[in-house]
Amino acid sequence: MKILVAYATRHGATRGIAERIARTLERPGLEVTLRPVNQAGAVGEHDAFVIGGAAYMFHWLNEATSFVRRHRSILASRPVWLFSSGPLGTERVDAEGQDALEAAEPREFAELAAEILPRGQRVFFGAYDPNAKPIGVMERLTRMMPAAREALPAGDFRDWPEIEAWADGIARELQRVAVGADARA
Ligand SMILES: Cc1cc2nc3c(=O)[nH]c(=O)nc-3n(C[C@H](O)[C@H](O)[C@H](O)COP(=O)(O)O)c2cc1C
Repeated sequence: MKILVAYATRHGATRGIAERIARTLERPGLEVTLRPVNQAGAVGEHDAFVIGGAAYMFHWLNEATSFVRRHRSILASRPVWLFSSGPLGTERVDAEGQDALEAAEPREFAELAAEILPRGQRVFFGAYDPNAKPIGVMERLTRMMPAAREALPAGDFRDWPEIEAWADGIARELQRVAVGADARA
């Protein structure tokens, strides 16, 4: 059972989540490849996929969305889990009284999920360092806006126990899939 953990990151927080997921999947002996989505190589060689990207301005990073769209026929036929990193902070309920993680689901998730029917999709709190070099015009502009500074709390809010628990659940499910495939062989 070969698993690809593929990620799209701008500042590294999502790569860290993907790394933790990959290490957690390896613990019970699964064969894991960890790659940025743009260097994923031969996608069809993998039996299952965990695909993650950061959320910016309500959207999943474009490379992650393009990766899923490009490989949708392979992905639709194999077990897939999607995750997103962002929002920032620790509040589980947002200013509108909604579940903060549900509200932060990237706009693309519903459409992609309808196409590839993932076994799971998840939003994790992310990380933001206001002193890191801004990437792109949008980030440079938001740094100048006081309202944006308030809306983007600085810090590393990645919830490692939640991330590991999610990955453990994936490992268990994949082990069941592998046992089922052996029994059918
Ligand atoms: C300019 C800017 C816009 C952001 N927009 C969103 C957003 O719309 N939704 C969200 O959940 N998180 C948002 N975030 C938080 C990022 O998703 C979070 O920092 C993420 O963990 C970054 O991942 P990366 O380091 O892998 O790029 C934003 C962050 C910045 C700096």
